[in-house]
Amino acid sequence: SRTVTLAVIPGDGIGPEVVAEAVKVLHAVTSGTDVAFDLTTFSLGAGRYLDTGDVLTDEDLAAIASHDAILLGAVGGAPGDPRLAGANIERGLLLKLRFSLDHYVNLRPTRIYPGVPSPLADAGEVDFVVVREGTEGPYVGNGGSIRTGTPHEVANEVSVNTAYGVERVVRYAFRTAQSRRRHLTLVHKTNVLTFAGSLWKRITDEVGAEFPDVTVDYLHVDAATIFLVTNPGRFDVLVTDNLFGDILTDLAGAISGGIGLAASGNINPDGTSPSMFEPVHGSAPDIAGTQKADPTAAILSVALLLDHLGLTEASAAVTRAVTADIANRAGHPRRTAEIGDAIVAALSLPTAHAPKDIS
Ligand code: NAD
Ligand code: IPM
Ligand code: MN
Repeated sequence: SRTVTLAVIPGDGIGPEVVAEAVKVLHAVTSGTDVAFDLTTFSLGAGRYLDTGDVLTDEDLAAIASHDAILLGAVGGAPGDPRLAGANIERGLLLKLRFSLDHYVNLRPTRIYPGVPSPLADAGEVDFVVVREGTEGPYVGNGGSIRTGTPHEVANEVSVNTAYGVERVVRYAFRTAQSRRRHLTLVHKTNVLTFAGSLWKRITDEVGAEFPDVTVDYLHVDAATIFLVTNPGRFDVLVTDNLFGDILTDLAGAISGGIGLAASGNINPDGTSPSMFEPVHGSAPDIAGTQKADPTAAILSVALLLDHLGLTEASAAVTRAVTADIANRAGHPRRTAEIGDAIVAALSLPTAHAPKDIS
């Protein structure tokens, strides 16, 4: 038997609501198996900052890093909350975890599940994954401002792209494509961001030579947003930088039927530190505390977590249960906990083809 230690960071807003359901599903799918999850909850986020003034201490980081994996809900207070003006929870907590734990692959899969009410009328088969770079780009905090607060303020936010960092994420994307439909789309803005663009293009060409079975195409990021809406079925694996990947994956969540369905993994493929799994969405202050949040993204993040840990059967079982539940959703608005319960119930369905009335 095996024990997996899991650091759980419920966070702010709807974070704790969706994490409660994800943990429910995690326990249900592993109960009676020879794998046990040992959970430690870390109280972090805007709430913790308001209580103590701490965002993420060195002790917190060390404690989290000693776990096998991390599950996170969402962090961040309501935009514009004056009490949070001095803190940057997103940078000081979420990005600090991603950077310190070297989560250079931010894996964000999108499927349009059968029966889901996608805003796209006739999307066809949609199943792609965005491999978003996680440790570089404009996110690194390389910048500053002068004459701050004056009419002559100058603010710089430098995008850092290293050959080392681009190579390792592009290579991961090619490997991912190889295990799927063997097609890779590089998304960038090489017509304007010529320095970073030519680095990404050169490395994609060079690494691509090692993967002759993977076809490669290129889209400027603006055009990519067109095709994500008009022809999302053309995509298999997309690889892109940190900021483009952030934006594209909210769009991907929206076309897939809602941001409440979009899961992600912040992966350290080298295994030198724990990977972190979280929904793509944020703390949704507009619906926090109302049980209106869809916990599916958090639950699918558990599927990614299980897969990452090599628990492929359990991962597939969660995805099957979610697929079965989603197929029955139309016209049945449910509370957060009801969706979690329905997915737990669907776990015990015998086949991949769920009956029509499980909810
Ligand atoms: P958001 O994703 O929190 O919300 C955008 C919209 O999507 C809102 O209308 C919200 O109600 C809706 N939504 C989000 N998740 C949902 C769910 N599971 N079910 C149903 N509807 C859902 O983005 P935002 O409003 O830009 O950000 C709010 C806060 O969250 C900010 O502080 C932001 O920095 C933070 N944030 C954190 C993370 C994270 O922790 N990973 C990610 C994104 C944003
Ligand atoms: C996400 C979020 C984060 C990001 C923010 C909150 C730092 O939007 O996980 O997509 O931009 O990566
Ligand atoms: Mn985002």
